[in-house]
This record gives sequence, C-alpha cells and structure tokens, in this order.
Amino acid sequence: MKIQRFSRIGFIMAAAGSAVGLGNIWKFPYMTGEYGGGAFVLVYLITIAFIGFSVMVAEMLIGALGRLDTVSSFEELAPPDKKQWKYAGFMGFNGIIIMTFYSVVIGWIFYYLFRLLNGLPSTTDKAKDIFNTLVGNEPGIQIFWHTVAVLIVGYIVYKGIKGGIEKINLILMPSLMAILFGLLFYAFTLDGFEKAFEFMFAPKWEKLNSEAIVRAVGHSFFTLSLGMGAILTYAASLPKNANITQTALIVTFMDTLIALVAGLVIFSFLFQFGAEPGQGPGLVFISLPTILKNFGTLGIFFALMFFLALAFAGITSAISLVEPVVQYLIDRFDYTRTKAVVVTSFIYWIVGIGALLSYTKEWGEMFSIGKKPLFDILEYTTDSILLPLGGLLIAIFVGYILHKDRVRAALEHEMGDRVFHIWRFSIRYIAPVALIFMMLNLMGIIKI
Ligand code: PFF
Repeated sequence: MKIQRFSRIGFIMAAAGSAVGLGNIWKFPYMTGEYGGGAFVLVYLITIAFIGFSVMVAEMLIGALGRLDTVSSFEELAPPDKKQWKYAGFMGFNGIIIMTFYSVVIGWIFYYLFRLLNGLPSTTDKAKDIFNTLVGNEPGIQIFWHTVAVLIVGYIVYKGIKGGIEKINLILMPSLMAILFGLLFYAFTLDGFEKAFEFMFAPKWEKLNSEAIVRAVGHSFFTLSLGMGAILTYAASLPKNANITQTALIVTFMDTLIALVAGLVIFSFLFQFGAEPGQGPGLVFISLPTILKNFGTLGIFFALMFFLALAFAGITSAISLVEPVVQYLIDRFDYTRTKAVVVTSFIYWIVGIGALLSYTKEWGEMFSIGKKPLFDILEYTTDSILLPLGGLLIAIFVGYILHKDRVRAALEHEMGDRVFHIWRFSIRYIAPVALIFMMLNLMGIIKI
C-alpha cells in the first residue's frame, strides 16, 4: 500500500496537532475549575508523566513497526497464533464516534467567531442566553456550522498525509501557539495572574475525591490522543529512523504546556474580575466572553484570538480522528481516498446531527436514551470507556504480545538500558493496573 511519509517536523506538528485540541483549551480549564484546581492538575501531570507518556511511546511503536492502518498493523505484528489481536485495531473507529460531538463543538466555535464580530455580551445572563439559545433552540444554525466543520476537516483529510495533514499542521500549530503565548504575556500583566497561578498549582487536597482522580486519568488519555489509533496511524507514516522516544517526549511536553497555558490565560482573565472558576462546559462559551467585555474593544480582539486558537486546535485534532478510519478503508477495502472521506464524513455528520438535536428543547427527548442526551452518551462512552480500553489493549499488546526483543531493538538504543526497563515496567504493570482501576470506577459514575 502507498504510505506517504511525514517530514520529521511535520510528524511532530501533526502528532502535537492531534494531541492539542478542544481537550486542552476547552475541557482542561473547565475540569480544573470544577475539581478545584491544584490537586486535580497534579494528578493530571503525574498521570501524563507516568502512564500517558509510556502509552504514547507504545502506540507510536505499533504504528512505526506495522506501517499500516490500525487493524492491519495489529494483525501484522501479532504472532501467528494470536492474529485475533487485529480486532484491537478497531479502536480506530472510536475516532468517528468522538467526531460526532467534536465536530458539533467546533461548529459552536465557528459560530462564536462569527458572532463575536458584533461585539461581546454585556452581562453573564446575556452570555448564558446566547449559548443556551444556540444549543437549546437553534438546531438549524448548529447543523449549518457542524456541516462547515465536517467539510473543512473532510477536505484536509482528502488532501492526504503530506498535502493536507502535514501542511495544515505546519501552519495552524505555530499560529495557535503564537496566539496562546501572546495571550499569556498579556495575562502576566494582570493581577488575576497570581491568583490563577495559585489556583492551578497550589494543591487543595480536600477537593480531591476519587471522581476527580478518575477524571484526571481519563482526561490525560483524551488529551494525548491515546487509545484510538490516531497516533498509531500517523506513526505509520513516520520518517525512517525517527526517534520515537524523543518524538513522544516532545509531543507530550507540548500538549501539557499548552493545556497549562490555556488554563493560566482563562483563569487570569476570570479572576481579574472576580468570576467563579467552577462553571462547567460553559466556561469558555459563557464566562470568558462576558469577562472580556471589561477590556472594551481590546476584549473583542482577545476573544477573537482565543476562539481562533480554539478552532485551530479543534481542526488539527479532528483530522487525526478521521484519518484512522479513512486509512483503514483505503488499506483493507481498496477505497479511493475520496470515497473513504465521503463515507466516513457522512456517518459522523448524520450521527452528529442526532447528537446536537439531543440538546435541543424540541427534539431532546427523541434523541435521548433514558434521561441521557445522545451527546453525553457518545462523549461518556468514548472518553471514559473506549479510550482507556484502547490504551489498555495497546499496553498489553506492547508489554506482553509483541516479542520483547523486537521492542528492545526498536527502543533501547533511544532510551538506554535503564530507562527502557522503567518504561517497560510502566507499560506492563503501572498502565494496565491504573487503567483497569479507572474503568471499573467510572462505570458507576455519570459525568458532566
Ligand atoms: N487530543 C484531542 C484533544 O485534546 O482535544 C482529542 C483527541 C484527538 C482524542 C484524537 C483522541 C484522538 F485520537
């Protein structure tokens, strides 16, 4: 099968583009707010360092050795008597499920970018009203922007690894970083910055309960794009002789840094004017625009920049959610790229409409199961069950199924003997135990 290869920097930007997404700029800050700040951040950082990074190396390794789509890579690498491991490769389909709501949220961001041109809401009530009207009463507008998101993402994926994915990441990722760091420098000058720093880094242990821990672990997988074959699929196009360990380290570092910067920026703005941090998913859609109003015209500029960064982050992640299934259809069913993109996009476009309708007043009941809207069910299932399950399968496959000598040959010269042993211990014991613990816990908890 054709495999185009990324350039070295192209791969780093693409993998970082996948990791840095709505999870960093939208979800991480509101979760930090909800779970009380410092202690949650600490658990998140520890998980990233001790589990997330190890699983990232493992997932990249499967792609780099398999060089095929998710299903074929597992099949290719499994020993002859364990070929049923190919079914683990179906984790690539999680991306389509995630896209059903991810694309809707990107649509909201587009709508906000467009609306911001008319100025910012003057009170929190007005801001709430804008967001709640959009989500609860305006299915048509939502479908329109969701469709725009589907078309943009589809077009980039259609252009392929080099002409689409690499190219767009090389533009959007540096732009995103420039915007966020620009906002951070401004935030430094605010009194709110100190409070934001303290909120995020001074642990308040009394706020840390088992739910917060489990959510922090789950989020570290989501934010690093682990457990659904996005990193695997990109790694199948790694340049020859790429250093997996180093690349995984850079991507993990960038992802974490950007989440922390986004958190500092948002909380600095909020604390500057005494707003509350624990406002849930509406944090960046409701609180932030209202707060920015205090800066006058400059506030509109900040808001535009912020939502632009959010849109860039969303798009570069979305393409990595779609590519695994597209690659699978091309490799296994001989689809042309165009056909694969059309089929894939159509599926998540349709289900996405169901997801957005499930939040509306008029259609909500029809698109809910029990009392739970389809949107929440899709999000909960992927984020809390399927991604950790995918991560678990990756850890077991690399830790127990792939021959140790093969793993050692690929990684030891990059890591050195000691680090290799620590990494392998993490993949064989720490990651599986933590993931199983987390999934068992979560099954009983309804989130968001
Ligand atoms: N990492 C992305 C984010 O933080 O928004 C979301 C994501 C992308 C999850 C790709 C999983 C994935 F495979």
